[in-house]
Amino acid sequence: MIRAEKLTAGYSRDAAALHELSFTLNRGERVALLGQNGAGKSTLLLTLAGILFPSSGNLTIGGIPVTKARIDEIRRLVGFVFQNPDDQLFMPTVEDDLCFGPRNFGMDKETITKRVNDTAAVLRIPHLLKRPVYHLSGGEKRLAALAGVLVMEGEVLLLDEPCAFLDTRSRRALVAALNTLTHTMMIATHDFDLARALCSRVIILRNGSVCAEGKTTEILDNPDLLERCGL
Ligand SMILES: Nc1ncnc2c1ncn2[C@@H]1O[C@H](COP(=O)(O)OP(=O)(O)OP(=O)(O)O)[C@@H](O)[C@H]1O
Ligand SMILES: [Mg+2]
Repeated sequence: MIRAEKLTAGYSRDAAALHELSFTLNRGERVALLGQNGAGKSTLLLTLAGILFPSSGNLTIGGIPVTKARIDEIRRLVGFVFQNPDDQLFMPTVEDDLCFGPRNFGMDKETITKRVNDTAAVLRIPHLLKRPVYHLSGGEKRLAALAGVLVMEGEVLLLDEPCAFLDTRSRRALVAALNTLTHTMMIATHDFDLARALCSRVIILRNGSVCAEGKTTEILDNPDLLERCGL
């Protein structure tokens, strides 16, 4: 579903933050993206979401190259949940926010209502729909931001630190909700328990390169390897 070959990308032409990354994600696979602060996790997610573009190498999602020319197709396929839900939610109520994307894509009213209600049910947030966004707690905002992405029916879900600042109960609700989804997922996190709970595979970045990759249990139970990757 996602294929990167010698992917180099970053914020300016002469300062790449990612250096020749190669990896694949199969359809439906959930992979945790680990690495110390500044390793390149968010940069990689921004590149997969088509917000930054590769400066060299190849990157395809569902067979579509991630380039400016194909960006509309990429946007339909890929949902990106920012680390900070305040970067994502901007309509007056949760319901307005959930309707915004589908309306923009020209879905009809009936379909939108059904999708919004179904998505809210999956994430157990129907009671939040009529609430003003600015009255929500941090955890509720995070669930609302995730709902806003799921309602779009993409196949790929990119999550940046989804459990940061969540209490135990919100965290458990989010993990349970994510576990019911069949999306191909890449989850950037510092939370090893989250990686164990959701992801079969782990990729560790260090200085913008892949430092280690493998089964979650094998990688996380190998202290020497983690040490070598700066974790
Ligand atoms: N907007 C930006 N402009 C220029 N350089 C940036 C920008 N954002 C991040 N960087 C640099 O790119 C590199 C990778 O940063 P990135 O945010 O991808 O790290 P990260 O792995 O997500 O870290 P963290 O765990 O702290 O979230 C760092 O050296 C960082 O300083
Ligand atoms: Mg980051």
